[in-house]
Amino acid sequence: MKKVGIIGVGEYLPEKILTNADLEKMVDTSDEWITTRTGIKERHQAAKGEAASDLAFKAAEEALKNAKLKAEDLDLIVVATITGDMPCPSVASILQNKLGAKGAACFDISAACAGFVYGISVAQQFVASATYKNALVVGVEVLTSVTDWQDRNTCVLFGDGAGAVVLSEVKNRGIISTYLGCDGSKLGLLNIPAGGSANPASTETVRNRQHFIKMQGNELFKIAVNTMTRAAEIVLEQAGMTFADVDIIIPHQANARIIMAVAKKLGIPEGRVYLNIERCGNMSSASTVTALCEAVREGRVKKGDIVLLDAFGAGLVWGACVIEW
Ligand code: COA
Repeated sequence: MKKVGIIGVGEYLPEKILTNADLEKMVDTSDEWITTRTGIKERHQAAKGEAASDLAFKAAEEALKNAKLKAEDLDLIVVATITGDMPCPSVASILQNKLGAKGAACFDISAACAGFVYGISVAQQFVASATYKNALVVGVEVLTSVTDWQDRNTCVLFGDGAGAVVLSEVKNRGIISTYLGCDGSKLGLLNIPAGGSANPASTETVRNRQHFIKMQGNELFKIAVNTMTRAAEIVLEQAGMTFADVDIIIPHQANARIIMAVAKKLGIPEGRVYLNIERCGNMSSASTVTALCEAVREGRVKKGDIVLLDAFGAGLVWGACVIEW
């Protein structure tokens, strides 16, 4: 098996910024509540008509440039998303056409906030086995398109964005270990009830606001902390490492309080935790990858560093990954 690592990164956040002050005018909330309960100050919002593939395209172009590759060099495109341009075809197919990555195999992955970790875990297998040489993995969401702007419990949390990485053979250890999991029995805690085959779109589903994200945040909080902690422990154990070996943890950004509780349980100091939730909110599949790309660009991740990715979301799904940069 070949050693596989990330050879290029790129991210894109839409221009429009929605602040907590903007939300104060839309629902009964306050900057103080949102900041203290979640750590979010602002989030980006895609423009009208700006679809997931448009965000993905900009992030992918950047990642290819960073990897010094051309779109034609890609032979696999995997897109993690729950807010694709349309139910069919995949964002990956649409992105392939926009990039001009002719001939690349394309599919989407639906694993919500753990989508990017699922994505690199799957794509890594293809590159490790030499089935494909260069794989593009994108995490992208336009969550504001499925946000209920009348529901203060959820509308203050979500944002839009995209991050992309190129996977290829590397000389160091690259992706050392990945761990994925799911507990399908708790899917009622976080979902979008209508718009699929179980509950197709109708005037009734629209009237009942069933095309928007429904979340029982309070019940998820403790599960998120415990699951992310356990996932990090398992993936490091698989890698033959301890938390002392981790230079930076880049977690899914659902809530700053969740992230800090996980870091505390793991004994990882605050300075080794990367956060972009204050500026971006929760971008589901796009959160972990965007944070990773930013951390690399800012020099927070350096060659030889051990990076721990850790994510949890709707499904309920989770995933963690250890990478030598
Ligand atoms: N502004 C002001 N008050 C709000 C509010 C808002 N935007 N949203 C909820 N509230 C109110 C509630 O109505 C409730 O009022 P009550 O006590 O009078 O009933 C009170 O604030 C507390 O609500 P609660 O849901 O218990 O808050 P919380 O501290 O749990 O924070 C979340 C809510 C969603 C931020 C938090 O639970 C969370 O982050 N959960 C985990 C999310 C997660 O991990 N999801 C999976 C990955 S995406």
